[in-house]
Parts: sequence; C-alpha cells; structure tokens
Amino acid sequence: MNAEHGPSFTRRAHPAPVAADARAAMLEDPGFGRVFTDHMATIRWTQQHGWRDAEIRPREPFVLDPAAAVLHYAQEIFEGLKAYRLSDGGVALFRPEQNARRFRASAERLAMPALPEATFLRSIEKLIETDVAWVPGGDGSLYLRPFMFASEPFLGVRPAAEYLYVVIASPVGAYFKGGKKAVTVWLSDDYTRAAPGGTGAAKCGGNYAASLVAQAEAMKHGCDQVVFLDAAERKWVEELGGMNVFLVFDDGSLQTPPLGGTILPGVTRDAILTLARDEGRTVREERFSYEQWKADAARGKVREAFACGTAAVVTSIGEIRAAEGGFVIGDGGGGPVAEALRAKLVGIQRGDVADAHGWVRRVL
Ligand SMILES: Cc1ncc(COP(=O)(O)O)c(C=O)c1O
Repeated sequence: MNAEHGPSFTRRAHPAPVAADARAAMLEDPGFGRVFTDHMATIRWTQQHGWRDAEIRPREPFVLDPAAAVLHYAQEIFEGLKAYRLSDGGVALFRPEQNARRFRASAERLAMPALPEATFLRSIEKLIETDVAWVPGGDGSLYLRPFMFASEPFLGVRPAAEYLYVVIASPVGAYFKGGKKAVTVWLSDDYTRAAPGGTGAAKCGGNYAASLVAQAEAMKHGCDQVVFLDAAERKWVEELGGMNVFLVFDDGSLQTPPLGGTILPGVTRDAILTLARDEGRTVREERFSYEQWKADAARGKVREAFACGTAAVVTSIGEIRAAEGGFVIGDGGGGPVAEALRAKLVGIQRGDVADAHGWVRRVL
C-alpha cells in the first residue's frame, strides 16, 4: 500500500466480457441499476493485516459464509457517484473526494475500518479505466457503487474483524422513469427515517432497509418517493428516501433543512447551495415544518420544491400526498429555478459549463 497514491491494483481481465454489440444494445436504454459492467474492484481488510489484495477482477457472485456478520447485524455502508462522458469524449467524476470523505465518516459511524480516501478514489478510477467502454454517451452516465461489508463469520455482537470493500459499476439513464419533469411524494406519518443519535447522516444499508415500508406505502399511493419528518416532533421536514429537499420562495430565495445528524449530507445538496449563492440568491439552511410548507404553497409564497441527489440530479416536486390530503406546488409541473439549477449542474458535470469550483475530476 502506498498511503499517498493508494494501493497498486492487480488486474485480472474478464475471460468472457460482454461483446461490443450486446453491450451497445444494453446501453441503449439501461434504466437504473439493472445493467452492470464486466469488472469490479475489491480490497480486503483484516484486523491482522489491514487493507490488502487490491484487485480489479471479473464481476462475479461472492462466496459468503452464512455466519458473515453483515447478514445478521447489517454492518454495511455504501456510496453512489457517477462518471460522465464529457463533450470532448473524455470521462470525469463529480466531486468524488466528497464521496470518499462521506464513506470514511459512514465507516466510523458503523465501527468499520476507514478506507484511505486516496484508495477510494483510486479504486474508482481503476474500475472506470478498465470498463470505460461502458460509460454511456448522451444523457446517460456510469453509476459507481462503492460499498463495504462485514465478512467475518462470527455471531457475536461486536464490530467484525474482517471486511470486504467493493466497487461495482452500472450504466444508467434517468432515475425516474421517462425522465419525469416533476414527481409526486408521499408524506410518511407512520414511519421516520432517522433519530438523533442514530445513523441518519451515514450511508448505511440499514437506513434504507428501514425506509422501504414507507417507500412501498408511497408507491401504493401512486407516489415516486417518500418524504420523512423528524423523529422527535414529527413536524419538521427532513429529506426524501434517497434525496435531499429544497424549497424555492417567491423572493427567489432557497431553503433546505439543516444537517444535524439525521439527514444525509448530500454532495448535490452542497453543490446546489453553492450554485444558488453564486447566482446571488439568499440560501437558508433552516428547518421548515410540513404545515408551513403546505400553507406557504397555498398562498404562493413557496413557488417550487425540488429533490436533489446523484441519482435524481435535480427533480421538481409537483405534489405532496398525505393521509390528510396533501397539496400541489405551483402548477404541479415543476418550475424554472429547479430547471435552471439542474441545467447548470449537468452542464458542469459534462464539461459544458465553466467549472468555477474545481468540482470536475477528469479520469480519462
Ligand atoms: C437519503 C439520501 N439523501 C440524500 C441523498 C443525496 O446525496 P448525494 O447528492 O450525495 O447523492 C441520497 C443519495 O445518495 C440519499 O440516499
């Protein structure tokens, strides 16, 4: 291992990679998270030896002991980021250092070993170099999914002594089917996502497992996503199942709930805060209640709302549905501020808009 540049990855090429014509067909309409590239990156960690065996190797199923701790106590974390095809044909990542940092923070919260940030970045870059033919052009991108889980076979409840870190890659199109202009969200009043002192700020699988019943409820009500309120007062808007949330007011200002340990610190959220400030907008990281959101939408003070995240980029929220009724935002079809922020963000990610903050990290 080289601490500064990360480890050297040995490379084992796939003996039978997907043929070019079959790959082209798969890239035509990949959807989200269904198509995977030929290879994966893996690194093992043991208490005795630390990080070792960094490899780029064929993507294949794992052999996992039935007693592996992750299967019992959910000691697992993950990340999500995208590689974009630039207009000049190159490939770039968007702020991957932020994902490396968040991965380390998640590891600390879940009592897992911290992967050096340089190693995280290198694993992703090596995988992209190997599977570069899978990076789609057009509106598509290559979604990278780094994750780490407790692989030690042991049923005692304590931090495991063995882990596997993995990166897989999936060419993707729009997260919401048909590239919807505005989505409908369901207000969960039976379930909360995260409590003070819990794991809300970490990207651990358990958070998502616990949110699925609410997501299923949302889908039953014809909604795309669920919006969660805080666990203590059941009053304050926190975030969606997999995205942060913003409101746009009639004076052009933006507001998003503050990070306080129960909300995932989104890389897109942070970029939107910066881009909006660059435009001279007032931006508030302040909590707002569901009731206030509803009242302000009714009197036209809240003009727009949008969700943001790596997968959904920036997507307007047109309607909230709730057990007590819900409400529509604006005309329900999205708004110009969200649309313009989306265009600016995508432009930076694709190399078409000046990257004033040094967010784009070219890989190839
Ligand atoms: C719960 C949750 N909130 C917010 C986000 C947005 O984070 P990011 O912009 O880093 O993708 C995600 C997606 O990763 C998420 O799962």
